[in-house]
Amino acid sequence: MRSTPSRPLSLLVLGGTRFLGRALVEAALADGHQVTLFNRGRTNPGLFPGVETVIGDRTEDLSALSRRRWDAVVDVAGYDPQVVGLSVDALRGRVGRYVFVSSLSVLADQSTPQDEDGALLVLRAGMPPEDAYGARKAASERLVRDAFAERASIVRLGMIVGPHDPTDRFAYWPRRFARGGRVLLPGDPTDAAQFIDVRDVADWIVGCVSKERGGVFNVTGPTIAFGTFFDACRAAAGTPAETVWVPSERLLAAGADPWMGVPMWIADPACAAINRVDVSRALTAGLTLRPLARTLADTLAWDKARGSLPPGQEGLSAVEERRLLGALTH
Ligand SMILES: NC(=O)c1ccc[n+]([C@@H]2O[C@H](COP(=O)([O-])OP(=O)(O)OC[C@H]3O[C@@H](n4cnc5c(N)ncnc54)[C@H](OP(=O)(O)O)[C@@H]3O)[C@@H](O)[C@H]2O)c1
Repeated sequence: MRSTPSRPLSLLVLGGTRFLGRALVEAALADGHQVTLFNRGRTNPGLFPGVETVIGDRTEDLSALSRRRWDAVVDVAGYDPQVVGLSVDALRGRVGRYVFVSSLSVLADQSTPQDEDGALLVLRAGMPPEDAYGARKAASERLVRDAFAERASIVRLGMIVGPHDPTDRFAYWPRRFARGGRVLLPGDPTDAAQFIDVRDVADWIVGCVSKERGGVFNVTGPTIAFGTFFDACRAAAGTPAETVWVPSERLLAAGADPWMGVPMWIADPACAAINRVDVSRALTAGLTLRPLARTLADTLAWDKARGSLPPGQEGLSAVEERRLLGALTH
């Protein structure tokens, strides 16, 4: 149960209508805070009818935010330092705290477990897109920290999961178990997985603002074994299924794509630590995590309600799964 906040705050949310932003707005409203959204009005317009929405494109013009003040801004979906620089400049002196949603992809070394002090990627021309994403986030973090110092809160997220996830990385698995039959499982049961329910992130960010917590935080869930994760998916789905583990090297040889092609599967040793992130600082700062069974049940219910996905958007299609199982298990 939520505790009543000591003082209702005014929060500006840059974004707020897709996935994490949506959960964040729900958490802030549930805690009695007053929320203003700033977005273009394209993604899920009308989602929060009682909430003020200032319409604007953050890449071009933030003048609609001038002459206003808020206790804090949460910049949910800033990806580019030039764009984040515009909001930092527009909001300097107008907000008491700048919360920037970043990513663990900022870390330069994903092969060994890192804490918040690990070296960060530096943006260079010609970087592969996955590195450029992290390097742009790192440069954006720097801008926010330089401008807001101890009034900056940097939230480095691991994989976020749960209802309204626009990717099919996580929802694929409980849905696949619910379909039953022969289920292809990638890698080894002892491989690591690490993710966090988007609603736990949202609750924690709102708490950070209330408690004026500044600094850099790694925010994700506990490391669990892939086998444990799939057992929980099977239990949540409640359908008989035959599981077929296929080692990573065989899947790679058969042309399977890690991460998005076979959801959540990581085969590259250079990324071995991506699921072994130390989150002790966030736990000490009040991060609480709901049970995996709750996240799976809610994700499955949401996934059923939204119906079948358009072709190409499913994590692993039934056709591709059959091809891989046929090629690899005879
Ligand atoms: N998914 C993961 O596993 C994961 C992992 C690590 C980090 N993260 C980070 O978590 C965040 C997730 O973001 P989200 O998509 O869930 O956020 P969100 O706030 O729920 O949705 C994105 C918002 O940005 C608005 N927007 C997009 N372009 C805009 C523009 N040019 N001007 C103004 N508003 C604009 C959209 O509304 P309009 O379209 O109406 O403008 C929408 O409200 C990202 O920062 C991501 O890097 C995610």
